[in-house]
Amino acid sequence: MGLQKSDALDVERIREDFPILQREFDGQQLVYLDNGATSQKPEQVIDAISDYYRTYNANVHRGIHQLSQEASIAYEEAHDTVAEFVGADGREEMVFTKNTTDAENLVAYSWGLNELGPGDEIVTTEMEHHSSLVTWQQIGERTGADVKYVPITDEGYLDMEAAEELITDDTEMVSVVHVSNTLGTVNPVSELADVAHDHDSLIFVDGAQAVPTRPVDVKAIDADFYAFSGHKMLGPTGIGGLYGKRELLEAMDPYLYGGGMIRKVTFEETTWHDLPWKFEAGTPSIAQGVGFAEAVEYLEDVGMENVQRHEEALAGYALDRLSEFDDIEVYGPTTPEDRTGLVSFNLDGVHAHDLASIMNDHAVAIRAGDHCTQPLHDVLGVAASARASFYIYNTTDEIDALVEALDSARELFA
Ligand code: ALA
Repeated sequence: MGLQKSDALDVERIREDFPILQREFDGQQLVYLDNGATSQKPEQVIDAISDYYRTYNANVHRGIHQLSQEASIAYEEAHDTVAEFVGADGREEMVFTKNTTDAENLVAYSWGLNELGPGDEIVTTEMEHHSSLVTWQQIGERTGADVKYVPITDEGYLDMEAAEELITDDTEMVSVVHVSNTLGTVNPVSELADVAHDHDSLIFVDGAQAVPTRPVDVKAIDADFYAFSGHKMLGPTGIGGLYGKRELLEAMDPYLYGGGMIRKVTFEETTWHDLPWKFEAGTPSIAQGVGFAEAVEYLEDVGMENVQRHEEALAGYALDRLSEFDDIEVYGPTTPEDRTGLVSFNLDGVHAHDLASIMNDHAVAIRAGDHCTQPLHDVLGVAASARASFYIYNTTDEIDALVEALDSARELFA
């Protein structure tokens, strides 16, 4: 098995934990390179979810009985595990959401609708995912706040000079993606936090592609809010994390009302529960929370520095292989250390969807389209791109399989 140049991880052993990687299509072994969309799940996570349903399934925070107590403790401790993983100060600073999008909307509705108005500005960037871009655009429309976009350079970096000009004393929120899901660029979020705070603005960081792929410390970044999804980091779908500074979360009103988020209800008024439960109305995603914590423990065992080195090695290998061909355009930084393990590209004369379909014939799973970044594709001057995104179980052999499959596309469309 051709492994990564860094040999940061024992990939062969890791692969044994992922049953889905054994799948074959027409006798060809699956090559799963769509990890930016969602990662696969190890046995440990699948077992943790199954164990919850088999042995202590009950609602949380509602029962005196033994099962409910066990479920409540597991769900609460899952918050502690995830909080610690990103450097948050305990469960009070870690709200479980459905996913990154849900976290973005929570802050936009709960903070944005109350705090923004005409004359205020939201500064975001040209490389945002729709989850952030559309959300702040709509909150801008509803509140009268202007939305400004930091441009990208030709090399796929944020234009930091422009950022420093766009962020002013009128800025109330800077919303930035930590790692671009299309360009792979790792943005200087700590530097942007300093600029935002110099102007008394808050900063929201979309960490959907960052938390799965590198060590993240929300306090070191000095993010005010930081969001991520469980399913991109070996966990189940339907669960994500929103870190918020405690004093901000305490000052914010809930985004959803209902059971579980209240302290006292009368016909006249309601008071809110403690953090983070104030923001988790209704029966939460209990099994998913348990699975999320198990995924975090798996990644901690692997070591996030090792994950980052592996991602950079695979990105570097993919960039090298794709640069062998004049008919391929790759987007984003060319320096592997400035990006994560995903590569978006186009092959001359072949639509990205056709390319993904041909890859599928070779059992190579990639994503094609706009990757929920239509405005960024407008800036790149293309309607769509193909994207290969790697994770801890991917190998250089699998990147070679992708490169070989490109020949079939060339033959078909020549
Ligand atoms: N945001 C995910 C992706 O980039 C779905 O594919």
